[in-house]
Amino acid sequence: MSEQMDQVLAEALEAIQSAETPEALGDVRIRFLGKKGSIQALMSAMKDLPKEEKPAFGQQVNALKAEVSEKLEARRKELEAGALQEKMKQDALDITLPGEKLETGTIHPLILIQQELEDLFLGMGYTVAEGPEVEQDYYNFELANIPKDHPARDMQDTFYIDPNTLLRTHTTAMQMRELEKANGQLPIKLICPGKVYRRDDDDATHSHQFMQCEGLVVGEHITLADLKGTLEYMANTMFGAGRSVRFRPSYFPFTEPSVEVDVSCPFCNGKGCSVCKGSGWIEILGAGMVHPHVLEMNGFDPEKCSGFAFGVGLERVAMLKYGIDDIRNFYTNDLRFLKMFDRFD
Ligand code: DAH
Repeated sequence: MSEQMDQVLAEALEAIQSAETPEALGDVRIRFLGKKGSIQALMSAMKDLPKEEKPAFGQQVNALKAEVSEKLEARRKELEAGALQEKMKQDALDITLPGEKLETGTIHPLILIQQELEDLFLGMGYTVAEGPEVEQDYYNFELANIPKDHPARDMQDTFYIDPNTLLRTHTTAMQMRELEKANGQLPIKLICPGKVYRRDDDDATHSHQFMQCEGLVVGEHITLADLKGTLEYMANTMFGAGRSVRFRPSYFPFTEPSVEVDVSCPFCNGKGCSVCKGSGWIEILGAGMVHPHVLEMNGFDPEKCSGFAFGVGLERVAMLKYGIDDIRNFYTNDLRFLKMFDRFD
C-alpha cells in the first residue's frame, strides 16, 4: 500500500510541476483530490484493510492529501506571480517613446480678418449684427434703392432661388434689415460681416463666394468726415501705422454721395510699387452717405438724421495683408496654405 502511495505522490508532484496554467493546475487538483481522484480511491480502499492497519493507513493518506494540497497551493501562487510578471511586462509603459502629436486646426485667414475687424469696431462702440445668406430680393435690392428694372442689378450677377429669393450678393442686405429693425430709433452703429455670393467665373481675383463686412452709422450730424476718420483708423489698425485714405467719387444706388476708398500702399508707403501698380494707392472698399431715399424707405427722416455706410471685401484685405495672390486659396482647403496662419492665432 505504501508503495502505491509513493507512486501517487510522485505522479502528483510531477503533474503539479508540469502544469503551466491555472487551468491545467485545476485539472491536476481534480485528478488527485477530486471525488473520483486517485487519493480518494486510496481512501476507499481502506475499508478492505484489516482493522488494526486502518489508523496508520488513514494517517498516511491524510499526510499524502495534505502534501499534495500544499504543493498545489504553492504552484498556484507561483503561476499567478508568473502571470502577473508577464502582464506587467506586456503592459509596461515606455516613457522614453515620443508622444503622439495631436493635430490642431488653424483659424482660417478670412476669419482672422473678421475677428480683427470685429475687435476694432467693438472697441469703438459698434455692435456686430448677423443676417441670412438666403435673402429676399426686398432686402438685397428693393430697400437698397435698387428696384426691379434698375441697371445696377446687372452689376451683381445674382444666384436666384425663386423670383423673390436669392443668395445675398452683398452685406448691404443686412444693412437694410438693421435699418428696418431700428424702427426709426437713433443712433445706429454696427457692422455686419458675412458670406456673399455672385455668379462670377472663378479665377485669381474672382470667386462666386466671398466675404464682406458692412459698416453702418446713423445719427444726428453724421458727415463724410466721420466716415473718413473711421476708415483711416481702420486702415491704420489693419495695415499698420502711417496709412492714409483717399476718397474718389463713385456710384452706388444706396449712397449719395458715393465714394471708392483707397489706402496708401502698405508695401511701398505710397511711393509706388508693383502691388499698387506704381500709383501708391490701393482700392479697398466702397462707401458713402446713406441715400436719403433709403433712410426714408426704412422709416427715418433724412432731414433729421444722416448716416454713413461702407462695405469692405475681406478677401481683398487678407490678400493685401498676408501677400496672397490668388483668391481661390481661401476656398480650396489646401492644408499647406491654411497651416501658414497658425502663427496669427
Ligand atoms: N454693397 C457694395 C458692393 O457689394 C459695397 C458697398 C458700397 C457697401 C458702398 C456700402 C456702401 O455700404 O456704402 O459692392
